[in-house]
Amino acid sequence: MELYLDTSDLKIIEELWPILPLSGITTNPSIVACGGLPLGELLPKIRALVGPEATLFAQVLARTSEAMIDEALRLRELDPKLVVKIPALPAGIGAIKALSARGIATLGTAIFAPMQGLLAAQAGARYVAPYVTSVDANGGDGLELVRNLQRMLDLHCPSCSILAASFRTPVQVMECLLAGAKAVTVSPDTARQMLVSPAAEAAIERFEAAWSKSFGKLSV
Ligand code: G3P
Repeated sequence: MELYLDTSDLKIIEELWPILPLSGITTNPSIVACGGLPLGELLPKIRALVGPEATLFAQVLARTSEAMIDEALRLRELDPKLVVKIPALPAGIGAIKALSARGIATLGTAIFAPMQGLLAAQAGARYVAPYVTSVDANGGDGLELVRNLQRMLDLHCPSCSILAASFRTPVQVMECLLAGAKAVTVSPDTARQMLVSPAAEAAIERFEAAWSKSFGKLSV
């Protein structure tokens, strides 16, 4: 499986990259806008922190296929290994089709329905990103979407992977991975929830207390 951190915060990347088994960093326009650094400055800084093997994701803003293709090519000049996120709207499906014919890796984003995801996959997207919590917030069932989409990809388009997004809790992430999603991206908050375990901390503190009582110094 592939785990990504959904952030543009360089301090957080610096903190969590050495700890988490991450495959790369995802961003979206809100996340980039929130950080305040334009992609031309941000992407090289993230690349410098995560090294040459990591996969980075950035999204186009254009609304026509032609303009999306143009932006995708410009983004790839900023980072030649970038996976370009393209909204899976009609113009976006067209852009994914054209970019995939040129060998450019894309992710079909803002997936709210299984057929929408399958079309983006069939058009050539390497990844499709269902928005789990946003689907729930719009009266749907985000987890059910991931289950159905994964079944359809397995049956009809196994070259495309789900990169599930929009999580609020580690249990949502676990459920998506159990449904077969090959990749997930989590916010720094969800990542921290995944890392923290008060019960494990308490268990280790008990070991330390027993050790200190017998040997004093806490080392083997
Ligand atoms: O990048 C897309 C996804 O992470 C959006 O998540 O939390 O804004 O619904 P959220």
